[in-house]
Amino acid sequence: MPKIEIVGNKKLSGEIVVSGAKNSVVALIPAAILCDEKVIIDNVPNISDVDNLEAIMKYLGVSLEREGNSVVIDSKRLENKSIPCELSAKLRASYYFMGALLGKCRSVDMCFPGGCSIGERPINFHLKGFEKLGASIREDDGQFILEASDLCGSEIFLDVPSVGATINILLAAVKARGKTVIENAAMEPEIIDVCKFLNSMGAKIGGVGSARLEIEGVDYLHSCRHMVIPDRIEAGTYVIIASLLGDGLKVSKINPSHIESLTSKLEEAGVKLEIGGDYVMVNEVGEYKGVDITTMVYPGFPTDLQQTMTPFLVSCNGISHIEETIYENRFQNIEDTVRMGASIEISGDNRVATIYGKSKLVGKKVYATDLRGGASMVICGLIADGVTVIDNIHYILRGYSDIIDKLKGVGADIRLIDFDESEEC
Ligand code: EPU
Repeated sequence: MPKIEIVGNKKLSGEIVVSGAKNSVVALIPAAILCDEKVIIDNVPNISDVDNLEAIMKYLGVSLEREGNSVVIDSKRLENKSIPCELSAKLRASYYFMGALLGKCRSVDMCFPGGCSIGERPINFHLKGFEKLGASIREDDGQFILEASDLCGSEIFLDVPSVGATINILLAAVKARGKTVIENAAMEPEIIDVCKFLNSMGAKIGGVGSARLEIEGVDYLHSCRHMVIPDRIEAGTYVIIASLLGDGLKVSKINPSHIESLTSKLEEAGVKLEIGGDYVMVNEVGEYKGVDITTMVYPGFPTDLQQTMTPFLVSCNGISHIEETIYENRFQNIEDTVRMGASIEISGDNRVATIYGKSKLVGKKVYATDLRGGASMVICGLIADGVTVIDNIHYILRGYSDIIDKLKGVGADIRLIDFDESEEC
């Protein structure tokens, strides 16, 4: 796998166009299985999570054709086979095949999903929801076998508003018999996107965007065409970069209301943002002061932007805190950030990072420990003096569409290298 090399400290100007949302499309593709006709999904990002879902779809006999940034999915030849670990462990979102196949075929046999190791990440709420709909569940050495002779609507209360469990239960419920109610449902924009997709096929989901989803089961879902919403985490990552290096840098084709928790924090720190209908722009970089962040479910500050916010806080004057409330192990990027020159302490049982600013970073050889941690390393490299080489970049490519080209296009000195020249004997 190549590495990313960045020569830091270049001002960035121009426009970065944000792609379709990873956490939406990874649910929309398995959801397409539920459709009894062809579906077209537009604005699909160029990320390896999509490639890995495509491999599972094709393994199941589903036709998935790419046409530019669109995919055409036809599941009329679907074969409900056991999904092996080599396929499901490539990404977290493979768990959406549980809900989709249970809804469509009333049975699923698949291996435990993969994903970034940022915490324990159990799927007990998903399974509890499927059981409430009438499925029986057997687990054998990481292989899950779910069966339901009759899938029947039910009232399901989620202990926490889990994104994955909300979507997975929705997928199983849209073709169940009768009415399902999901209480304490997650309300992330990606969930609204999935609901709109299913409703445009003829599903009957009410309360879209609220914490109470009401699903009236239907027998048949018809063809539809759907545009994936902009990726708010990719958007937020580039707005953070613009805050640090923007010299007239516009982050466009986004929904600014989806990243208000971020833009309000950046403004609190002193960033002058120009916020338009579908863009956020930074015209010049200033001096910033530290702020405190606590990660929360939507519309709170997203855990997925906490790691990319770290290099920003390193560049602020004074002390900042990040409290991570969602995952137990989401500070793995801190070690390399400190090696590059930051002053950061972790406390509170690995849940609180205290960042002492302002520090100047220096380029080093670093490691992408996970998707957002990897993006955080890209930002560290962009603001550091000298050369940064990032290893293990497959994590970054899982979720950031064309990141090298997008950054190069606005003036960053960034490239893929096949080997690290400094390692030459
Ligand atoms: N949880 C449980 N049991 C469950 C489900 C969740 O204990 O059955 C816990 C999790 O361990 C976590 C919390 O509940 O502590 C929230 O998890 P959630 O289910 O909401 O997360 P997820 O569905 O696994 C999705 C995104 C993540 C994002 C979270 C939170 C996808 C494929 N993944 O994960 O995205 O961090 O929601 O917004 O949609 C990323 O993009 O970098 C990423 C990790």
